[in-house]
Amino acid sequence: MKILAIETSCDETAVSIIRAEGEYPDTTITILGNVVLSQAQLHAEYGGVFPHLAKREHSRNLVPVFKKALEQAGFLNRQSATVNLPTSQLANVQTILEREPALYEAFVEFIPKIEKPDIDLIAVTAGPGLEPALWTGINFAKALARVWDIPLAPVNHMEGHLLSSLLDQWRPGHGARMRSITFPALGLLISGGHTELVLMRDFLSYELLGSTRDDAVGEAFDKVARMMGLVYPGGPEISRYAVRGKENSDFVLPRPMLHSDDFDFSFSGIKTAVMYLLRERKKSLTEQGKADLAYAFETAVADVLAQKTLRAAEEYGARTLVLGGGVSANNAICNTLRAGAEKRLPQVAVLIPEAGLATDNALMIALAAYFRYAAAGTTPPHPETIRACGTLSLASRRSRRA
Ligand code: KG4
Ligand code: ZN
Repeated sequence: MKILAIETSCDETAVSIIRAEGEYPDTTITILGNVVLSQAQLHAEYGGVFPHLAKREHSRNLVPVFKKALEQAGFLNRQSATVNLPTSQLANVQTILEREPALYEAFVEFIPKIEKPDIDLIAVTAGPGLEPALWTGINFAKALARVWDIPLAPVNHMEGHLLSSLLDQWRPGHGARMRSITFPALGLLISGGHTELVLMRDFLSYELLGSTRDDAVGEAFDKVARMMGLVYPGGPEISRYAVRGKENSDFVLPRPMLHSDDFDFSFSGIKTAVMYLLRERKKSLTEQGKADLAYAFETAVADVLAQKTLRAAEEYGARTLVLGGGVSANNAICNTLRAGAEKRLPQVAVLIPEAGLATDNALMIALAAYFRYAAAGTTPPHPETIRACGTLSLASRRSRRA
């Protein structure tokens, strides 16, 4: 089965094409095409993602990114003899893409010239994310599905993040094996918009154990970076500084909610503490001082995330820990969690997304579509019912035991 996936929930325009063979856990995933175009540099000027700019860029970039992915997959070897879409198709596409004129132009220019690719399912991120950005990807996917008559599957972005670490040693053009999960598993989702602890009793079965009460971890990284004068996205920048940093008694930061008897998080207190430290020092912060502050921030965040995750894993008897989301690209956080798990839960496997799969990409959307539709044998909904949902949640909250 071949899946084409499209991701435009934030500031990455991404398209991926995979072939899935065999039954999980003996599935082999071959990455036929995988393209990610980041808009980060454009948004850097605003210090964060500007939704309408993101939408405009997705509109401009989707067809070129899509074309590149098709090229990688070898789907562009044969040109179609057609030059235009049939009138009835054109009207449909025009209606579907009426809010994205640039995308419509590029679509009708490119699509009629190529042969329908050998694809069984189109997957697209439906949420959570920035709604204007999500709609661009969804409308593009709807137009493709309509013109080529291929089923269209809406995918939850966080499910993509949660399943991304299952791909083992992936390389473009090669078959990758899947890592196996022993249930119950505990997922720690840490991205720019979310911080969630999710209990998985099985595939596609999620219970929300806790989430952030204020900033998401990635958001806290980005805000602290901005306060320190570093560019967006701040997570990788803080990380780069932190590597050169060391423990410094001038920079002691709190660990909010570390001992609260729930599994919620709070990061705005750490961020505010950094703000006061920066204010006290005004312009006197040296490069080494910055590195030490970045180190202190990263360590405080890693401590809270690891302690709470390990406690939840103990309480719910988790047998696998699964990390996902852009912040799981952070080595300090991964190492703290791994070291804690080795000590406290030596039987528990820790799965971390490989390079390129932590931050937004379409490969994870293809994988999630594989699990939710192909492996589970579920029929996708009617394309017209698919809508963007900025706040689409993956799991409902588990009520605390008395
Ligand atoms: O999952 P993602 O790509 O997009 C969302 O779904 O939000 O996550 C982006 C977030 C940003 O806040 C970025 O600063 C953070 O992930 N991030 C990192 C690192 N790489 C990306 N945070 C800490 N350390 C990193 N190495
Ligand atoms: Zn994401």
